Amino acid sequence: MTGSPYLRIRSIKKSYKGAVALHDIDLDVEQGAFVSLLGPSGCGKSTLLQILAGLLEADGGDVQLGGEDITNLPPWRRNIGLVFQNYALFPHLSIRQNVRFGLDMLGMDRTEAEKRVDESLAMVGLDPALSRKPGELSGGQQQRVAIARAIAIRPRLLLLDEPLSNLDAVLRHKVRLELRELHDRTGITTIMVTHDQAEALATSDRIAVMNGGRILQYEAPEALYRAPATAFIAGFVGSPPANLVPLSALDNNSWTLANGQVWKPIASLAPRAAGVRAGAACIMALRPEALAVGVSGEGGLPGRVVAIEFIGGDRLVHVETGGTQLTVRVSAEQAMAGPDILLFPPQETPLLFDANSGKRLKADF
Ligand SMILES: Nc1ncnc2c1ncn2[C@@H]1O[C@H](COP(=O)(O)OP(=O)(O)OP(=O)(O)O)[C@@H](O)[C@H]1O
Ligand SMILES: [Mg+2]
Repeated sequence: MTGSPYLRIRSIKKSYKGAVALHDIDLDVEQGAFVSLLGPSGCGKSTLLQILAGLLEADGGDVQLGGEDITNLPPWRRNIGLVFQNYALFPHLSIRQNVRFGLDMLGMDRTEAEKRVDESLAMVGLDPALSRKPGELSGGQQQRVAIARAIAIRPRLLLLDEPLSNLDAVLRHKVRLELRELHDRTGITTIMVTHDQAEALATSDRIAVMNGGRILQYEAPEALYRAPATAFIAGFVGSPPANLVPLSALDNNSWTLANGQVWKPIASLAPRAAGVRAGAACIMALRPEALAVGVSGEGGLPGRVVAIEFIGGDRLVHVETGGTQLTVRVSAEQAMAGPDILLFPPQETPLLFDANSGKRLKADF
């Protein structure tokens, strides 16, 4: 059938003993895409992945892969590769035997299977002649074996559950690039679970942001960063994520910060233009990299530097103003006076959200 997506997830629901883990999940994934499921701990990412793999039964809904309804297929008939967070390698089997396992389960003949093992190990950059057991490998090498095992069956879909979480920061960065390269070389449609937004932004074609068992937004990384649909997403995506500042509409023409302060350049963005009535409570998202600090100038909000973090190239300056704390990202070369400074808002109009629903207000300034 033309026009229908490669992976089509519809109305997937799951509860554990009455507690809802997934509400009503719809998701389409194009063939050959690299998609991340991004969200905080407990939001249902692994639950959804296990339902796709067939390891967990959904309470309702259906899943189609390549036009076939796989909702009720057992895991071994789905031809889906899965890499768990802890790799789950068989400790008593050699590396080669680990990678061969799924091929033997499929009843592949010995010569063909050995060839596949060679190919798969080479694909993840491991020496096919490696004769060790998993316990004799580093975390990064074990992770590669787990990926080789998952791709050896030439899966129709590759599912990765926090595949980088056991690696140190340097290795994490290296392996996430390798994962994307492997994906580009093999063309295997991939879904990766992560709670690390930087990882999702760096690797994915599209990101599904989840919270509380729901998908809040499903977009390309740039669109997610530029136009987050909710305040939660704005406060979750970015390095560091946006500052969420409560505002209230004083009247049709001016804002105050919810702590009572008036920040002139912000105050004059008419609430009326955002369709907000006087007295309404809103949230403004201010990207740390779009804010500026200085010691003089028109429209600066007085604040006090409470901490400075050097992050290599840039500094994160934490500023307290009227009981609200904001983070500003400045170049490490910028001289920092203080502790008393002025905060300057972004040049462009900040994103505004309704404080109750959390949804973005389509401002027309
Ligand atoms: N076997 C289970 N029995 C009962 N509740 C469960 C079970 N597995 C998961 N849950 C609950 O379902 C919700 C979703 O869990 P899930 O493991 O899918 O989250 P997650 O997004 O993968 O989190 P994490 O990032 O911590 O791995 C959580 O509230 C969790 O406590
Ligand atoms: Mg999980």
